[in-house]
Amino acid sequence: MSSVLRRAARAEVDITSTRPGTPGGRFMRQFWLAVHRSEDLAKGHAKPIRIMSEDYTLYRGESGRAQVFDYRCPHRGAQLHLGWVEGDAIRCLYHGWKFDCSGQCVEMPAEDANYPRKVSAHSYPTREYMGLVFAYFGEGEPPAFPPFPASQDESLVHVWNTETVPCNWLQCYENSADEVHVAFVHQPGGSHAAIAELPEVSAEETDWGMRRLGTRKGGKVRVSLHYMPNVTRVVVPPLAGFEGVGGWSEIFFSFTPVDDENHMWLITSQVKVTGKEAEKFLQKKAAYLEACAKAPKVMELVHDVWAGRRRLIDVEHPDLAIVQDIAVQAGQGRVADRESERLGRSDTAIILWRKILARELGAIAEGRSSKKWRVAPVDVVPTLGF
Ligand code: FES
Ligand SMILES: [Fe+2]
Repeated sequence: MSSVLRRAARAEVDITSTRPGTPGGRFMRQFWLAVHRSEDLAKGHAKPIRIMSEDYTLYRGESGRAQVFDYRCPHRGAQLHLGWVEGDAIRCLYHGWKFDCSGQCVEMPAEDANYPRKVSAHSYPTREYMGLVFAYFGEGEPPAFPPFPASQDESLVHVWNTETVPCNWLQCYENSADEVHVAFVHQPGGSHAAIAELPEVSAEETDWGMRRLGTRKGGKVRVSLHYMPNVTRVVVPPLAGFEGVGGWSEIFFSFTPVDDENHMWLITSQVKVTGKEAEKFLQKKAAYLEACAKAPKVMELVHDVWAGRRRLIDVEHPDLAIVQDIAVQAGQGRVADRESERLGRSDTAIILWRKILARELGAIAEGRSSKKWRVAPVDVVPTLGF
C-alpha cells in the first residue's frame, strides 16, 4: 500500500481507539466485555475499574452478585468505592446516600424523605462466566449472554493472573492471531515447542468473528477462533510448570481496553481433567501460584528486558510465555505504528481482522448500520489438528 493510501486509510477511521464517542468506542460498547477476575472480587468489597477510558465502580454484594456501577456519587461526586456495600446496595462514604444495585437512590440520611426516589446513579448490566466478570457498557438491552460458547466437555476452569499491559488492546489481540510468532518469541524449545513448526496461515470471516487456520506440512491444520470483538480461543500446550498435567487445554483470551494505551489480559483455561487428574492439576496449580508469588513481577522483568539489563532469552518465570509476549507486543509502542509496517503473507489473519474492523467502524462513523454479530455455535470449536 502506498504511503498516501495508508494515510488515507488511517484518516478514515482509527481502529485502535475505544474512547467514548469514537467509532471504535461505540463499536466495542455493543458487546459484553470481561472486566475483572471473579476470584479477585470478594463479597462486600468495592473497587475502582477503568474500562475504555472511563472510570467505574465494581462491587460484589453480600449475596455474591457482582455489579458495575457509576464511579462517582451523583450527590457531589465522591468516589463510590470508598463507601460501604450493604446487602446488594452501595452506600456513599461522604454523606451516606445509598443506592440499590439498579442504581436507584433508596436512602439520604440528611435529606427529605421524598428526595431519594428522584435521584439515581447508573448501574451497568453485569454477569459472570468462566471465572470472569463481564459488563455491558452500551445503550439499550445487552446482547445474548454468554457472549461466546465454551467446551461442553467436563473440565476445570483455571483463570490466570490478570496482567495490565502498557499498550493498546489491538496489538495484543493481533498477536493472538499471529501463529508464526510462537516459533520465535517462545523459543527455544520451551512450552510451545510442539507448535513451533511454521504454519501457512489463512482466515475467513464468520458471523461471530473470524476462523483462523494454521496449516502445517502434511496437511495438519490447527483451527483457532476469534470472537468479536476481543476474545481469542485456541488450543494450547500444557501450561508451563504443570509438567504436562492437564494436557493440551483450551484457552480464552479477553483483551479489554483500560484506555487507548493500556489494556488487561483476562485469560481463562478450560483444562479437560476430572477426578484424580483434576486433583493432580490443582496440586500443580498450588505450586505454580506459590512460585508466582515468589517470582519477580512480570512487568519488572519486561522493563529490565526493554532497558537491556537482561536478555529475554535468560529470563526465568512461572509465566515465561506472558513475559515474552508482553515484552514483544507492548515493546511495539503504546499504540503500534501501523503506517510504517511491511506486512507479509503470514499476516493474513491480522490483515483480515483490520479490514473487518475498518469496515464496521467506518459504517458507524458514517451512520450506516453495521453487521449483526452473533454468538458462535457451540459445535464450532478450536482444534489442534495433530
Ligand atoms: S457525595 Fe455521595 S453522599 Fe454526598
Ligand atoms: Fe505468544
